[in-house]
Amino acid sequence: MAELKAETVLITGANRGIGLELVKQLSNSECPPAQIFATYWQPNPAQELQKLADEQSVVKMIELDVTDSANIQKAVEAVETSLGTTGLNLLINNAGINSYATLETLTAEDMMAVYRTNVVGPLLVSKAFLPSLKKAAQALHLEGMSCNKAAIVNITSLLGSIQLSRKNFTRAPMYPYRLSKAALNMASMCLSEDLKQYQILCTAVHPGWVQTDMGGMEAPMPVTDSVSSILKVLSSLSQRETGKFLDWEGKEIDW
Ligand SMILES: NC(=O)c1ccc[n+]([C@@H]2O[C@H](COP(=O)([O-])OP(=O)(O)OC[C@H]3O[C@@H](n4cnc5c(N)ncnc54)[C@H](OP(=O)(O)O)[C@@H]3O)[C@@H](O)[C@H]2O)c1
Repeated sequence: MAELKAETVLITGANRGIGLELVKQLSNSECPPAQIFATYWQPNPAQELQKLADEQSVVKMIELDVTDSANIQKAVEAVETSLGTTGLNLLINNAGINSYATLETLTAEDMMAVYRTNVVGPLLVSKAFLPSLKKAAQALHLEGMSCNKAAIVNITSLLGSIQLSRKNFTRAPMYPYRLSKAALNMASMCLSEDLKQYQILCTAVHPGWVQTDMGGMEAPMPVTDSVSSILKVLSSLSQRETGKFLDWEGKEIDW
């Protein structure tokens, strides 16, 4: 399978978990991107990310809180300065938060906080980086769509599948999280239709149940395995997969 050859990549929520592992594997790959924008939102980012950025010149740390429009705009300015005349090839909307709230325990505040981070955030970030993605799509005279050219990948969850919730609801009611990921899936579909005209691909990817702070240590899949599979899938995406909901192995998931 071809290696991902996007020259410029931005990952939200790169402070730990899947986001941090994406930065690690991309920067350590045989042919790393020229610039990887590893974004974090809290002051004092994780030492592991800081160390990676100190050791690998391709890794640029940028502050980006997906729930804060002014902060997103500041991140756009910093990234555009670093990009210079080139565009952004690949935006991975990975940042997310969880909530285990059930019907009995959910609150409006919890619902809104999860929606804001998991749905509004990725959409605002996609909107803000659209000029850079368009620039990348126009600059590269590659046939068709790909993550090497211009793409948005939304890291979603199987729990956002409406069809599959009949089978897996009782195991994990998680109303706020499920609803947010179902909405993120719709956002992915809308973006894929909207951005076809600019040759920008948009795909929703479920990473599997992964050993991170969010997935918990009882999860079956190490984060290294999930991320290496996801990167293989990203390297193979084309216009056939825009507007699809895929798992970490590239298998299609029911909406
Ligand atoms: N792990 C799983 O089993 C699993 C399964 C399905 C889908 N997913 C999805 O995969 C993605 C990554 O999950 P993960 O397991 O790596 O979770 P994680 O370990 O909890 O990491 C989440 C990341 O998102 C960041 N983040 C949270 N709020 C943010 C905000 N407002 N702005 C910017 N960044 C923010 C966190 O930053 P801090 O470190 O500063 O808090 C952290 O870096 C999420 O979208 C999640 O829903 C995970």
